[in-house]
Amino acid sequence: MDVETALRQMPKAELHLHLEGAVDAATFASLAAKHSLELPPHDEVADLYQYDSLADFLLIYSLVCRSIQEEADFRRVTYECLERCANSGARYVELFFSPESHFEMGVEYPTMLAGVLGGMADIKADRGLESNLIPAINRELGPARAVEFVEMVAAHPHPQIIGVGLDFNEIGFPSEDYVDAYRAAAAHGLHRTSHAGEVGPADNVRAAIELLDCERIDHGYHVVDDPDLVARCAESQIAFTVCPTTTGYTTIWRDLSAPDHAIRQMDAAGLKLMVNSDDPGMFVCDLANEYVRLHREMGLSLSTLKEMALNGIDAAWIDDTTKVSWRREWSAEIDALFASVNGG
Ligand code: HPA
Ligand code: ZN
Repeated sequence: MDVETALRQMPKAELHLHLEGAVDAATFASLAAKHSLELPPHDEVADLYQYDSLADFLLIYSLVCRSIQEEADFRRVTYECLERCANSGARYVELFFSPESHFEMGVEYPTMLAGVLGGMADIKADRGLESNLIPAINRELGPARAVEFVEMVAAHPHPQIIGVGLDFNEIGFPSEDYVDAYRAAAAHGLHRTSHAGEVGPADNVRAAIELLDCERIDHGYHVVDDPDLVARCAESQIAFTVCPTTTGYTTIWRDLSAPDHAIRQMDAAGLKLMVNSDDPGMFVCDLANEYVRLHREMGLSLSTLKEMALNGIDAAWIDDTTKVSWRREWSAEIDALFASVNGG
């Protein structure tokens, strides 16, 4: 078996995946046409999927969000997103989505939930893929709205709505501003993660851990600028959900083979990393290939990639009994896969 096949079949978790960023150009074109959405000038819709910064990406991301309006649209994009996860070897997914960006088009929160939870049930029935949902706070709407958002999420409880995230642009929206929202989330029994240190400073990573009480950190790359914080994170083994492909477009680390790439530095410092695809439709990547790129371009060993896959279980918001049995099962499966690579 070749390495690519083994890494594709390797059981894995996906914990940093944005539903709307998973929409591919063809589906975006079809939904935009369905809702007569006005788009910037373009030849092919795929041409719109070109960006060189987080801010540029988020402009198009918001347009994609605007194209998803009806329950059936949410169900479709959820199914397509999770089907690709299953094809990448994912056994468990925690999926972010961006309710605020759909409110702009007048979509009601229960409509979004019905579609997304419906798509999650469909893929579970068809492929056995387990998934849970994380509504994400849009930090660009400010701290007061963030508190209202958390209260809205808490007012619509569901066993598969398990926590909150914080995304959009860190610049101008420091993590410390969201203490009240995260305190409310904790009080409602919601898990907590946050984008931090993707384009913002190490202080955002520190604040996400110390002030927001996050259980894991999304991206977190700028932690490498603060050696004391790196040491603390190595000691506590808080998990970082890193996303190799999107670093090449949204961060200052554009080359996965560079010796100073943040993910390489984080791994070398003993931080607990797990691997994700972030926005696979909009960056034309997939989860299995994220591992392949870390192997081929960053030169990470198969044993390191196995450890990262198992870190996904530790970082997941699932019960401890499940963690223990998945760790045992996945580990044995991965060993068998990698043995067949070594055996030729
Ligand atoms: N960073 C910030 N906000 C986002 C991202 C991201 O990677 N993807 C979708 N929204
Ligand atoms: Zn993200």
